[in-house]
Amino acid sequence: MLTQSPPKTALITGANSGIGLELTKRLLNEGWAVIGFMRSQFPTNEPILQAAQTAGRLRSYQAELSDFGQLRTALQTIKQQETSIDLLFNNAGRSIERLLFSPQGRELSFELQSVVPYIIAMELKELLLRGQHKTIINTSSNALLTIKQFQLDQLEKPQSFKKLFGPYASSKLALSLWSQALAPQLEQEGISVLSVCPGANRGSLKTNNGLPWWIRPIHGLLFKHPSTGAARLYNAAMSQQPNGSFINKGQVTPLPAAQQAQAVLAKVHTIYQQAFVR
Ligand SMILES: NC(=O)c1ccc[n+]([C@@H]2O[C@H](COP(=O)([O-])OP(=O)(O)OC[C@H]3O[C@@H](n4cnc5c(N)ncnc54)[C@H](OP(=O)(O)O)[C@@H]3O)[C@@H](O)[C@H]2O)c1
Repeated sequence: MLTQSPPKTALITGANSGIGLELTKRLLNEGWAVIGFMRSQFPTNEPILQAAQTAGRLRSYQAELSDFGQLRTALQTIKQQETSIDLLFNNAGRSIERLLFSPQGRELSFELQSVVPYIIAMELKELLLRGQHKTIINTSSNALLTIKQFQLDQLEKPQSFKKLFGPYASSKLALSLWSQALAPQLEQEGISVLSVCPGANRGSLKTNNGLPWWIRPIHGLLFKHPSTGAARLYNAAMSQQPNGSFINKGQVTPLPAAQQAQAVLAKVHTIYQQAFVR
């Protein structure tokens, strides 16, 4: 008798909205199992989600990801309940409208979009090693290409704020830089990591508030449906792009401040050790 092999599994942060939601639906449509790691619930008006939840092919874990207490508890539960992960999508995040800080006291974009993806990658590495694809896709942004001067010492407590092109862009550059610096180490364990810009996609209204005033009127016209961003993340995950690279519009793209990549990796690793592992 033929036994059915279990479906491949993707963990997606921010799976309940926008790009993460479209990626979730696409992978479910293709027979994958999806683990949603998010602070809100899935929408209730999507039949594919309800069917997959009933079949056990869509599971979810809740946490405010920028709160290390909640993050630690949820990651422990995931490690207890799940057996393997093939693809890890660190996707949760959005451009915020003013300077905000995490419960640990670091600037929120940096905490959520640079540090938390590193923590999740480190904590779920064992599950990834039990999967087949062994791939991490970090959702970055081409806003990072606008950064002229990257100031490592400003990441935790910036002295100024700009929507999209301030701490948000810096946090995405930090994410892409540590991805690049960590790739050779991860490769030794058989794990690949890429950071990928999903392009300009229509996000939730909350996302819109974090955009500069001059982008907001054209947002609905020029920004694409979030399934476009989901396709960019999906294509990168299935591609054979050089390990550690930043992918923008499907192309390997050089990062500003690449000489600071090791220093960024050291910074997020120290925060992980001192504030999360303890
Ligand atoms: N849209 C674009 O044009 C664009 C361009 C480049 C990069 N990106 C990146 O793409 C990713 C997805 O963005 P999107 O456009 O799909 O935005 P979105 O529709 O606003 O979705 C953002 C997701 O992140 C989650 N999230 C935000 N803060 C969180 C927190 N503190 N803890 C837990 N979850 C949190 C949200 O949860 P809630 O629903 O609970 O708020 C939501 O699930 C983000 O990393 C964003 O920076 C987007």
